[in-house]
Amino acid sequence: MADERTRGAGTALVSGAASGIGLACAKLLLEDGWSVGAADIQPLPPSLGDDAPADRLRELACDVSNEDSCRAAVAETVSAFGGLHALLHFAAFHSTNTWQELSAVEFTRTQEVNVTGSFLMAREAARHMAAHGGGAIVLTGSGSMNSGGVGGHGRGGPAYIASKAAIVGLTRSLARSFGPHGIRVNAVFPGATDTAMTAEYDEDARNRVAERTILGRIGAAAEIAAVARFLVSDDARYMTGETVNVNGGGSFGL
Ligand SMILES: NC(=O)c1ccc[n+]([C@@H]2O[C@H](COP(=O)([O-])OP(=O)(O)OC[C@H]3O[C@@H](n4cnc5c(N)ncnc54)[C@H](O)[C@@H]3O)[C@@H](O)[C@H]2O)c1
Repeated sequence: MADERTRGAGTALVSGAASGIGLACAKLLLEDGWSVGAADIQPLPPSLGDDAPADRLRELACDVSNEDSCRAAVAETVSAFGGLHALLHFAAFHSTNTWQELSAVEFTRTQEVNVTGSFLMAREAARHMAAHGGGAIVLTGSGSMNSGGVGGHGRGGPAYIASKAAIVGLTRSLARSFGPHGIRVNAVFPGATDTAMTAEYDEDARNRVAERTILGRIGAAAEIAAVARFLVSDDARYMTGETVNVNGGGSFGL
């Protein structure tokens, strides 16, 4: 974290903040006293603003696959709050088509949003952090890259799985690239989590993913967000380049 800060809250940029895990994370950080730039391609739900002091929340319209948009999100956060200590990047596109249905256009667009978008947000945040004492970044993969989801029934298919597998390498490369600048980079790899992304799962798919976990249930958005919050905190100051599974024990017995 930046030198000017003592242990505790600072300024965070959260992408995917309009829904699911990003929304839960923005709420947790606001409760903890952070100032939050909340970025999404869709508007924030009014409930987030209701709970937050207006001077600590800034809504940012942002397409993470667009370079200028990422640059503007960082610049607006810094301009609103005077710094940027953490990026928590959750925004992603959930491609659910199977191999027979999947077009080259959709495959490429999925990589643009999920992989290029992760790089662009991290790069723009790091440009600021490197010049201002460092910071912490959390990217988001998916446990489904281990089981190799095939798509259909609302579940991630080949384009999504490939994009989330790429986050392992990106996290490690950026951790090594940014480390000398005092910036840590880690990633959360959620298992199936109750958000808009899994709302399309049919009953059978929900039961099957829950049964694959040791804890016997799908995760809650706040349970993933809490680990991301830990990873940008000073308590995780000796962690970088790690991909952390948060899946109720779903890594076992797949
Ligand atoms: N829900 C799960 O079961 C699950 C499992 C593993 C990984 N994940 C990952 O967790 C992260 C959060 O997913 P979620 O479940 O909260 O999904 P969600 O659909 O609830 O939220 C995703 C958010 O990303 C935003 N977004 C999409 N494209 C964007 C773009 N180009 N620019 C800016 N914002 C964009 C959406 O508008 C949405 O608000 C994603 O990276 C997802 O891949 C989710």
